[in-house]
Amino acid sequence: MAKILDGNRIRDQIKQECKPRVEALAASKRPPGLAVILAGDDPASGIYVRSKIKACKDLGIESEHVAPPASVTTAELLAIIGELNARSDIDGILVQMPLPAQVDSKAALLAVDPLKDVDGFHPYNMGCLVTGRPGPRSCTPAGIIEVLKRYDIPMAGRRAVVVGRSDIVGKPMAFLLLHENATVTICHSKTPDLAAMCREADILVAAIGQPAMIGARHIREGATVIDVGMNRITDRAQVERIFRGSREKLEAFDRNGSVLVGDVDPAAMAERASAYTPVPGGVGPLTIAMLMLNTIQSAERRFGAC
Ligand code: GUN
Repeated sequence: MAKILDGNRIRDQIKQECKPRVEALAASKRPPGLAVILAGDDPASGIYVRSKIKACKDLGIESEHVAPPASVTTAELLAIIGELNARSDIDGILVQMPLPAQVDSKAALLAVDPLKDVDGFHPYNMGCLVTGRPGPRSCTPAGIIEVLKRYDIPMAGRRAVVVGRSDIVGKPMAFLLLHENATVTICHSKTPDLAAMCREADILVAAIGQPAMIGARHIREGATVIDVGMNRITDRAQVERIFRGSREKLEAFDRNGSVLVGDVDPAAMAERASAYTPVPGGVGPLTIAMLMLNTIQSAERRFGAC
């Protein structure tokens, strides 16, 4: 029977470990401060940002939600980021992605002070990741490494396949696995015979944003499968197909008008993997836990440097 890698359990562990660090900062200086910029009204981003703010509150981290309108220009957003860079009470700045189409996302990420970049998205910090220097690591991939370590899943010498080459997940994931001495392959939409490549994997990470695209033929028997996908599906026939007519899922769909599914076919993953992250309750909670850690580390580093 496949082991379920419980992201909520690891998140709670990490939050417990964060608590004394926040308390120590609050006692000696002030609590860490995080600014979260959410431009526009994308509903999924809104849910993520509210979860991030709530996690801060639970831990005693000060947070500020900055909400420019969907019509914000690149220049306006750069001005907001510039103000946050200059504020001494803000240790971390997060620009929620995706940004509205008219905004130059690369310019926005470049504008964040690398010392306040709690996402690890700034090219300076990406360079630190690639060259093995200390610095903030992108939260979702860093959370995945934490779950693998805390469940004693070996990475050194293992074959890891990352499906998806985004700057947020795929690329940093590949480098973090490489630093753990895995042999890493990155696959993407132009990879021929994706299923054969995926079947090589001892550790398969799916980060493509396509509901249940990875199926039984992609998963080697006994592999560890990490499902990064968070796809909201609103078509009942698709729910029925993906969840094999599960009454529980269909009832949830009828109640809410949608259900969440990852990038991996859930039944195939449970049948073929030796361990896997479920959706929801796998990777999602870890991203937030790592954001808290990065924010605390940023505050500690800033005070240490004063
Ligand atoms: N959009 C999806 N995931 C993330 C993330 O980890 N950080 C930011 N800033 N935006 C995201």
